[in-house]
Amino acid sequence: MTNLTISVSELRNMLDRGDPVTVVDIRRAEQYAEWTVAGSRNVDVYDALAMGDTSGIDAVDLPPDRPVVAVCNVGRTSLLAVDRLRRRGLDARSLEGGMQGWSLAWNAAPVPVPGSTATVIQVRRTGKGCLSYLIGSTGEAAVIDPSVDPQVYVDVAAKQGWRITAVLDTHVHADHLSRSGPLAQLTGATYYLPDQQRVKFPFAALRDGAEITVGGSTIRALSTPGHTFESTCYLVDGKAVCTGDTLFVNAVGRPDLKASDRDEAAKRAHALYASLTKLQALPPDTIVLPCHTSAPIAFDGRPVATSLSEAAKVVAALGATEDAFVRAILSRIPATPPNHLYIVEFNESGEFPPFDPAMLEAGANRCAVA
Ligand SMILES: [Fe+2]
Repeated sequence: MTNLTISVSELRNMLDRGDPVTVVDIRRAEQYAEWTVAGSRNVDVYDALAMGDTSGIDAVDLPPDRPVVAVCNVGRTSLLAVDRLRRRGLDARSLEGGMQGWSLAWNAAPVPVPGSTATVIQVRRTGKGCLSYLIGSTGEAAVIDPSVDPQVYVDVAAKQGWRITAVLDTHVHADHLSRSGPLAQLTGATYYLPDQQRVKFPFAALRDGAEITVGGSTIRALSTPGHTFESTCYLVDGKAVCTGDTLFVNAVGRPDLKASDRDEAAKRAHALYASLTKLQALPPDTIVLPCHTSAPIAFDGRPVATSLSEAAKVVAALGATEDAFVRAILSRIPATPPNHLYIVEFNESGEFPPFDPAMLEAGANRCAVA
């Protein structure tokens, strides 16, 4: 941090504490719409500033009594905005690394799971919308779909008095680098993956119906192919289900990433329909804990979760016939996530890139079909 800049972790801590701050995202409106800092406002002056036109940023009305953080793509053009804002006497700083750096910022929220002996904590990549879970019970914890710095999970677990004994992925991810390998290495935990032939490193394979024990809780694997063929959901004490990219709070997983052609995508869409039907056979009050959300996640301590019955009301595709479902899904496939082929390659090889992971991962999640 300098006088003119603020680090990602410092802004994260300010938002986590609820400190007063105005976050001004100066990128183009369409970039802001895709992903941003939760609670920020958009002032689309990026192109103007880059051309030397400061009239837009000079005219922005901002509260004078609270610090301002300006955000752009990588933290360069926002320095121009900060210069103008400081000339007006505002306590303005530029976010170091911009949205690319912010991709790694995280927050956490407890998830009440009535009827389970487990305590569940949702750890979220706030800008990118990746959701991961610590499932703790009587001194032990499992981590599902870790997507932030492994040390974060170790620290959160330590605060609860848990030792991480199991790390699980719901599938081979395409939009973020799995932190499961590094986390398992750091903690000595067993690394579980759905049974498949995709990854090139050793792991403990989970088949449909397999169970693992964490303290006094049980995690059961439910094979749910569709988003990918190996996709698996994890049922916690029969009360909550980590759905990976199979089911979200308001959408279902896309079936086409890294599909060889449209036929494979169609096959996966049919498999997804069967998997969603399988999930809907669980009790309707089962809590759905997805792996992603499409909006920036506020520092409000509220989990991104729903129940199966609520999801059935919101996700129109869940009420469709199989043919209508497959047609609807294939007609609404969004743009592919940037760099997803590289990310899959790293996740299949088990290697972690020797450079800043945010360079590959920056951008919103695009694993859902709404
Ligand atoms: Fe995915």
